[in-house]
Amino acid sequence: MHATRLNPDVSVIHDALEVPGLGFLPVNAFVLHAEQPLVVDTGVGLPDRHFLDVLADVIAPEDVRWIYLTHPDRDHTGGIFDLLEAAPDARLITTFVGAGIMSVETPLPMPRLYFLNAGQSLDLGDREVTAFRPPLFDNAATLGLYDSKSGTLFSSDCFGAPLASEADALADDASVVGAELAQRQALWTSVDSPWVHTADPMRFGATLEPIRRFDPTVILSTHLPPAIGRTSEFLATAAQAPGTDPFVGPDQAALEAMLAQFEPV
Ligand SMILES: [Fe+2]
Ligand SMILES: [Fe+2]
Repeated sequence: MHATRLNPDVSVIHDALEVPGLGFLPVNAFVLHAEQPLVVDTGVGLPDRHFLDVLADVIAPEDVRWIYLTHPDRDHTGGIFDLLEAAPDARLITTFVGAGIMSVETPLPMPRLYFLNAGQSLDLGDREVTAFRPPLFDNAATLGLYDSKSGTLFSSDCFGAPLASEADALADDASVVGAELAQRQALWTSVDSPWVHTADPMRFGATLEPIRRFDPTVILSTHLPPAIGRTSEFLATAAQAPGTDPFVGPDQAALEAMLAQFEPV
C-alpha cells in the first residue's frame, strides 16, 4: 500500500488483492485536494493495512473535510472509522441506502452524514462535485463522483479489472496493461455486475450517457490504475457488457483440489 500524487488535484492510495485464478485486483482510494479536501473510499480492512498512515503521506488526516463512500462494500470501508476519528471535522457522504447497509454492522454517526443522490452536487469551496450512478456496479448504494474542475471521474467498481501482476495492479497508469485491458475489464464485469447479461443493450447503453456528457480526462476506478484520456474506449468496452456471460466461480471439487495442494505431505 502506498500513495502517489497523480496531479495537483488528486492523490492515489494504491493497494491490490490477489484473487486466485483471476489475477491482482487494484483496490484504490483517492484524495481530491479541493479547498475542502475530500477522500474517496478508504481501502480494505485487513489488519496489515494502515490506511491512515498511508493517507498521512499526502494529507494530514485532520485536514480532511469530506469522506465519500462510493458504496459500503468491505473493499471500500476499511479505514472509514479510523478516518472519522482522525478527522473530527469531516462529514461522510453516502446515501440513505449506503447508511442503511452500514447500520447492520457498525452504524455510522448520523449527525456527521451527508446524503448526496445521483444528479446532486456539493460545493467543496473551489469546485463542485456531482454524484452519478455508474453503469456497472455491484451494490444498490453505488454512486460515483465527477469533479468538473479537474475533469476527474471517480467511477467506483465500474471500469475495474483484475490484472496480470501485482506490479500492474499498483501501477501509476492503466496504460501498463496493454491491449488485453478490455478483456480483463469484461471479466471483472462478469464477476462484479452479473445482472448485466439480462439488461436490454439499448436501455443499458443509455446509462453510459452521464459519463459521455461529463467527458472526463481522468477516470479513477477503485479497481484499476488511473486511466488518462481513455473515456471513449472505456465506454465502448462497457457498451458490450450486456453480452457478458455471468462469472461462475470454482465449485466444491475445485476448492478441495486447491486445499489438497496446501496440505502437508
Ligand atoms: Fe463493490
Ligand atoms: Fe469494490
